[in-house]
Amino acid sequence: MNSIGLPNKGLERFIDDDLPRLAGLPVPLVVSVMGFTRDELALLAARVGERDEVALVELNISCPNVETGLVMGADPTEAARAVERVRAACAKPLIVKLTPNASDPAAVAVAAEQAGADALALVNTLRGTAIDPRGTGGAWLGGGAGGLSGPAVRSVALAQVQAVAAASRLPVIGMGGISEPAHALDFLAAGARCVAVGTASFRDPAAAARIAEAIGAARPAGERIEAAATR
Ligand SMILES: Cc1cc2nc3c(=O)[nH]c(=O)nc-3n(C[C@H](O)[C@H](O)[C@H](O)COP(=O)(O)O)c2cc1C
Repeated sequence: MNSIGLPNKGLERFIDDDLPRLAGLPVPLVVSVMGFTRDELALLAARVGERDEVALVELNISCPNVETGLVMGADPTEAARAVERVRAACAKPLIVKLTPNASDPAAVAVAAEQAGADALALVNTLRGTAIDPRGTGGAWLGGGAGGLSGPAVRSVALAQVQAVAAASRLPVIGMGGISEPAHALDFLAAGARCVAVGTASFRDPAAAARIAEAIGAARPAGERIEAAATR
């Protein structure tokens, strides 16, 4: 469970300090943006999308642990309005990151597709909370609530990836509790075009590379993120 919010340096310092350094890595850069209004999302996507270093932009409409409570990703109409606004402001391929905290993630996925998304990524963390074990009865997490990830969410993520991949023609980036090559292959079998490794990377920073290598031996080489998200 995490409750870290979205700590970051802000747009200008990200562009000035981080982007040049990240551009030296031997991978395509995906920059993920999140904002509290559609205008803010569009501004962020436009500014990072105009940079040559950036291959793809990911729109996070799903973060469940910011105190203001972002609900754009839980509602198909709201999600479509956000994607439409960002689509008009950003020429780079656009990945829309979906929340599992929606009553019908496949409906949100279809709305995002119709609004101009190029790819879908899911799942973000599942909303959860924890009570202070010292017996105060109060919240144990700084933000009051948090997001669950890792092995506990894998079967939920797998089902949602399957539902979204069946409902949408867009490439799907699947994630949620992947820590072994076999998990990644399960997501690919469920309809994901590629996979991501989050929580497992905190325990083992080499997890994603290890899994990618194993999958590379088992899957056609073309099934990589660039091909998946670039139409
Ligand atoms: C500490 C932490 C921070 C995260 N921050 C973000 C974020 O800023 N934006 C986002 O879209 N997802 C964020 N996530 C969600 C992950 O990208 C991923 O969607 C989710 O954890 C499920 O995959 P996993 O089980 O492999 O971690 C975060 C997850 C963790 C554990």
